[in-house]
Parts: sequence; C-alpha cells; structure tokens
Amino acid sequence: MASCVDERYFASARDAGVPIDQLLNLVGAGIVLQPRQLAASAMARLCDFEWGPTEIGYGGARGGGKSHWAIAQLADDCLRYPGLKCLLLRKVGKANRENFEDLRRKVLPGIRTSYNKTEGTLTFANGSVIKTGHFQNSSDVDAYLGLEYDVILVEEATTLTKSKVDDILTCNRTSKPGWRPRAYFTTNPGNVGHAWFKARFIDPWRRGAETETRFVQATVRDNRHVDTGYHAKLKRLTGWKRRAWLDGDWDIAAGQYFTTWRHDTHVRPDIGYGFAEPDWRVWLSLDYGFAHYTAAYLFAIDGDGTAYCLDEHAQRGWLVDAHCEAITAMLERNRIARHRVETILAGGDVFKRESDGERVSDDYERHGYKLERANMSRVDGAAEFLRRLGDVDRTPPLRPSLYISDHCSGLIDCIPGLMHDPARGEDVKKVDCDDDGFGGDDYYDGARYGLMHVATPPPPKLIRTPGRRVF
Ligand SMILES: Nc1ncnc2c1ncn2[C@@H]1O[C@H](COP(=O)(O)OP(=O)(O)OP(=O)(O)O)[C@@H](O)[C@H]1O
Ligand SMILES: [Mg+2]
Repeated sequence: MASCVDERYFASARDAGVPIDQLLNLVGAGIVLQPRQLAASAMARLCDFEWGPTEIGYGGARGGGKSHWAIAQLADDCLRYPGLKCLLLRKVGKANRENFEDLRRKVLPGIRTSYNKTEGTLTFANGSVIKTGHFQNSSDVDAYLGLEYDVILVEEATTLTKSKVDDILTCNRTSKPGWRPRAYFTTNPGNVGHAWFKARFIDPWRRGAETETRFVQATVRDNRHVDTGYHAKLKRLTGWKRRAWLDGDWDIAAGQYFTTWRHDTHVRPDIGYGFAEPDWRVWLSLDYGFAHYTAAYLFAIDGDGTAYCLDEHAQRGWLVDAHCEAITAMLERNRIARHRVETILAGGDVFKRESDGERVSDDYERHGYKLERANMSRVDGAAEFLRRLGDVDRTPPLRPSLYISDHCSGLIDCIPGLMHDPARGEDVKKVDCDDDGFGGDDYYDGARYGLMHVATPPPPKLIRTPGRRVF
C-alpha cells in the first residue's frame, strides 16, 4: 500500500465522493491523489451509470495536477475492466514526446505495465491498453481517428477546435458489455477551444445545471506537489495569462474585449423577478433574427443611474407572434405592466421593407409592440458596455453601473467570449453562431441596443401619466 495513505486520506477521499472500490483500486496501484483529483476521479466513476455524465473536465489553470490525474484515472478504468481500450491524446512539443514514460513511472509506480515505445501503447496485465497519441497541431489528431476507443482522454483540450474534438468523439464507442463510453478532458483557459470548452463544461458547472458533463476546477494552489519555483513563475505572469494560468479564470481569453468583466461581480443572482422598484425606468431591447437568435432584454435603471439587465428572451427559428408572446410573458413574470415600458429598441434590419412591402417591425406592431430604432453604433455600444462594467480590480475600484440577472444566461455566457476585431481594434469582433446555435453574438447586440438607451447624454426624463401607454 502506498505510503502517506492514512485515516485522513481515506476521509478526504470519502469527502470527495470516491467509492470505496475505487479508492482501494487506486491505493492498491500506488496512486495517491489530491482532493481535487479525487473529486474528478469520483465523477469519472459516475460515468458507469446510465444516468451519469459521459464527459469529465478537470483543470482550469497551469500546474493543477492535470497530467498526473489523467494517467491515474485511465489506470483506474483499465484496472477494473480487462481489455479496455483507451486513447490518451497529449499536446506536446517535439522535445517532450518521450516524457510519457517518466510520467507513467511517477504516477503508476505500483502497477505492472509494459510500454511499447514504437507503438506508444501502455499495456496492463489484464489486457487493457492505453494508446498514447501526441499532437502539436489540430490536424495531428486525425491520425488517431477511425478506431473505437472505450475511453478517450484529451489533454490541453482547448488547443483543439470544437469540430476537431467532435471528430475525435466519433471514435468514443464501445462493444464491451457493461461499459459506458466516456471522455475526459484536461485543460487551461484560453486558446482556440476556449469558447466551446467554456460552453460545454464551465457554464453548466457555474449554473449548477450539469447533465452530460462534470467539471472540477483545480489550480496550482490545489497541488501541494508542485515546486515553489513553478508557483513563483506563475505568480510573475501578468495580464490575461496570469488570470488564465494562475487563477484559472474562465472569463478570460487572449484578445478578450471585456477584460473588466467579472462574473462574480456583474452577475447578480439577487436580481429576481419583481426586482425593479415601481419608480424605476424600464425598457426593452431586441436584436431580431430567424436563423440567428432573436435576443430580447428587459432593462431597468434606478435613481442612482445603475442599470440592470433584468431578463432575457432568446430563441431562434421562431415567428414574430411567438416572440411577442414570450416578451409579454417576460414582462408578466417581472411584474412590469406594459404601460411602464418606455420603449423597445431594435436593430435597423427590422425596419427594412421585404419584397412584399412588409417590415418585421409591422408584425411586432400588430402585436402591440412598437419598435424604435436603436443607436446601432458598434463602437459606441462597446464603449458604453465597457464604461458600465467599471473596473473592480483597479485601485481604487471603479464601481460598475450595470448588473445582470442570472436569468440572462445567453448574455452572461456571451460577454466574456467576445474578442477585439483585429481590423478595428476598438470594436467587438462580429461572430455568427454555428449550426448548433453556439457562439453567436446576438445576445450582446440585443443588450447593447438596450444599454444605449441610457448612454450619455441621458435622454429627457419621461414624465409619466398613470395608465398612459407610451409605446
Ligand atoms: N497526486 C499527486 N502525487 C504526486 N505528485 C503529483 C500529484 N499530482 C500532481 N503531482 C505533481 O505536481 C506537478 C504538476 O502536476 P501536473 O504536471 O500533473 O500538472 P498540470 O496541471 O498537468 O501542469 P501543466 O499545466 O504545466 O501541464 C508534477 O510534478 C506532478 O508529478
Ligand atoms: Mg500537464
């Protein structure tokens, strides 16, 4: 049995949710994991159940013990199911291609395995195999496609695009009775795959709404084995690299536009339905789309000039009448009477005449929603967004004047992923959603139109007559 395994270790494994058979399996193999690694391994075992997840993500910063955990978890799987076939895809430079042998000696000191260097296969006594695949570029992983793998583990997953990962996952299938195919991912924030990984793992994790995925965040602070020099090196980093690699901040990516966005500050779960006081100004905004999303927002501003994005309606492929119904429902659940809504601001496309002479805005008007032209300046809108986010990390902090309800999940997921437009640095890069509806900026556009309603200079104060309808 591995040294440093004592009562306390058993207790921490139990606290992390590790089932006893798994714990004995790991300890028997000489594998001693740290609390976050134990939590990730416990989640990997949930993949055994029909109702359990099929994808586990681990990491989120440099030095959090990702590579160590990756091998340990594959060993746990291999030891319990004879003949298991695993693929371990590792992002490596040419220089460290040979490192895998060191790694397996370090992580699996107590297991008899044989490593075939030429084939890159690690074989266990029970016939289970880990095939190691190394990649430097996305295209390198094509060499491993086409076969069937019971388990696939991708290290540095955000260095791969979503379509490349989807390609790899087509190989994640099994013909073994009692085994459920699964995939594990380790990674840091940033890189070309940042957005898909965040959407797939981080956003559901933050919302407490994980279904097929589970994520365990681990930074260098969760790894007591890391040498102080490595830790100090991470601490010397600045800018987005520090936030991504040291802090494991998922709201950062190289080229991120809204670098002052802080999920914990700007997203306010206390902004529930009925949050707006009766004397606050309220209004709606809308970015229209059919193939793309229609994203509508309900805003309010308090007497101090702090704006609140209270609620969101976002759907694609819907006709105008369905959107109007949803917007009406949004007002009702927020207990906002229609006559309080100052305006509904929309992008210019809804006012364009179609071939039949009709405008989308006419459709909305028929349902009682008279749309008005939003200020569509992209650069002004981005500047206003930035201004309202404030800067809580500055000394002294610049207090935000925009808060967003956690009902606005599309907007919350979208803002941190927005990038500078390389051709026009002061603008946000325009991005369309993919075929799955993922990754578009319609949410941001919809909210931007709304925010411009209270941009400086302020519009004249509305003099409200009770019961008067203003749109
Ligand atoms: N459970 C453990 N027991 C012993 N050593 C560990 C354990 N977990 C991690 N380590 C050690 O901590 C160091 C960093 O771990 P590892 O390389 O797995 O982190 P990483 O997240 O993959 O780092 P990077 O971001 O640089 O790829 C390594 O020396 C590793 O051997
Ligand atoms: Mg690593």
